[in-house]
Amino acid sequence: MKTIDLRSDTITVPTPEMRRAMAEAEVGDDVYREDPTVNRLEAEAAALLKKEAALFVPSGTMGNQLAIMTHCRRGDEVLVDAGSHILHYEVAAAAVLTGAQLCPVRGLHDTGGVQEVGKYVRPAGDDHIPPTTLLCLENTHNRMGGTVMDSAATRSLLQVARSYGLKVHLDGARIFNAAVSLGCDPADLAEGLDSVMFCLSKGLSAPVGSLLLGSGEFIRRARKNRKLLGGGMRQAGVLAAAGLEALKMRHRLAEDHANARLLARGLAQIPGIAIDLETVQTNIVVMDVGGTGHDAASFLALLAARGVKAGNFGGGRVRMVTHKDVGDRQIQEVVDILSRLLSKGE
Ligand SMILES: Cc1ncc(COP(=O)(O)O)c(C=O)c1O
Repeated sequence: MKTIDLRSDTITVPTPEMRRAMAEAEVGDDVYREDPTVNRLEAEAAALLKKEAALFVPSGTMGNQLAIMTHCRRGDEVLVDAGSHILHYEVAAAAVLTGAQLCPVRGLHDTGGVQEVGKYVRPAGDDHIPPTTLLCLENTHNRMGGTVMDSAATRSLLQVARSYGLKVHLDGARIFNAAVSLGCDPADLAEGLDSVMFCLSKGLSAPVGSLLLGSGEFIRRARKNRKLLGGGMRQAGVLAAAGLEALKMRHRLAEDHANARLLARGLAQIPGIAIDLETVQTNIVVMDVGGTGHDAASFLALLAARGVKAGNFGGGRVRMVTHKDVGDRQIQEVVDILSRLLSKGE
């Protein structure tokens, strides 16, 4: 039985072009800034998002945490969406590494986020109170089902953050999914922001790597912090070569989005599965399976017995993520399997 793995777009394997580029990569010691392939990847990434400079890092988590560490001081407070990756899935690293306190803001990613920011910024001049110094956004938003934030909404949040003197960082792990879905230049989603992180290792299918972008001065300080965290890599051009190939693949994310819509529309027809189709904007499909008579764990076990892997999203919900290693025929197969299982009680 061949497995159809929809747990995450991080499971994508490198393409033959990536493997070839890795084998042939020109390399040097990147801690001396002498790896030409890393330098090329950083320059291309900075040009793509119209930022002054970029830094190649091993993971999205390190990119986000370097941003917090570089923007903030110990004891600062950072506003994040209440459902953000930085809050839920980065092992409390902001507290451990920077000594910053995260303040969850409900509805930051939704319309209305602009009003929310003002409610959470701490007033200055009180010795009891930590200074709020940074606002973090996430686009696409993972826990909200891969939903996008357009450039107008981003700009509004940036303006309100600036009115309180805050810096703004974007966790853009899937920024190219957002840009493809919105039909815009990815640079529009990063315009004016102090820093942006994006991942090469998700839908773009590179084996490893993310980039942190910002001003030349910010990246100079982040580079030193990367060394502090043990993230200074040597002949990393072998990895950067795959990253350069990954950047070429950003336009094909539209296929993943079409497959997510195909999957969502098919599954929404099945009794007991509830999907809000409006939230299926990129490559993530979140469904409530409570109506099927199964909890998420037993639903996933049913699927696993038929070779389909998906993720438990908590609260009776299951998450499926489309990516380049699962084609439309396999997506239709997942719909057919669940339809047989649940509509006809197979
Ligand atoms: C929105 C978001 N930010 C950051 C990350 C962290 O990336 P990494 O797994 O490379 O540390 C992820 C990973 O899934 C993510 O979905």
